[in-house]
Amino acid sequence: MKRVLVFDSGVGGLSVLDAIVASGMAVELDYLADTAWLPYGLKPDEAVAARVPALIGAVAANWAPDIVVIACNTASTIALAGTRAAIANLPIVGVVPPIKPAAAATKTGVIGLLATPATVRRAYTNDLIAQFAADKRVVRVGSSALVEAAEAKLRGQIPDHASIEAAMAEMFGAPGGDSIDVVALSCTHFPLLGQELAGAAPRACLWVDSGAAIARRVRDLAQPQTGAARAGRAAFTDAASASALHGAFLGRGFRQFSQISSAPYFALAPFNVV
Ligand code: DGL
Repeated sequence: MKRVLVFDSGVGGLSVLDAIVASGMAVELDYLADTAWLPYGLKPDEAVAARVPALIGAVAANWAPDIVVIACNTASTIALAGTRAAIANLPIVGVVPPIKPAAAATKTGVIGLLATPATVRRAYTNDLIAQFAADKRVVRVGSSALVEAAEAKLRGQIPDHASIEAAMAEMFGAPGGDSIDVVALSCTHFPLLGQELAGAAPRACLWVDSGAAIARRVRDLAQPQTGAARAGRAAFTDAASASALHGAFLGRGFRQFSQISSAPYFALAPFNVV
């Protein structure tokens, strides 16, 4: 079985991992979460660009994956090229805002783009809009509070409803917002809040994310047999998160947990979940 290492700043990559599992391919899935550094969306670009290749490189050297998935828009839009250059022997799949499918699906010509504050202002996002949605109106909203809400939900807490309502009010209340019929979920944390977001939106919309497209890309690269994916190892960069999140990971079949020491060593040590 090919080994796929899924990386995110936190639990957002689980929305991508779930899409890989749902697509029914026999691969082994490992997970790496940089929880000590979350949220990436509020970090300086250069810091994320330096940290992501170093962290993934250290873990990949230990775990020997066949494919790496950077299941984080914020990291992909700034660190994908650098990570590919640093780990040249592995295929590295990135995730970018699903602007192309959103533009294809809108009937009103107005798309909501919900992402982290970093992703909404990136040149990469501007380029995607220019390429695929030049004739559409794109209402951009950046929210880090939604990232925290998704993290809270997967820690078994009630996500902060006020932050969800605030993001929806900002998006649908913006100029043109009353015509939004498709929302591009451009942070991998946000599909984990799918029900909450739809519940707080003023009307029904199509919510588009990148999970299924990433799963197709992994299938192309891994050429796996059809069957069930297997959860392998999960690693976190802080112990508190490893502890608080173990329920979400146990529920997905993970049984081996590690904690990673701080930069520049990123050493892996077993973490016993109690
Ligand atoms: N899940 C990440 C993304 O797709 C970002 C979360 C964060 O800000 O750390 O953009």
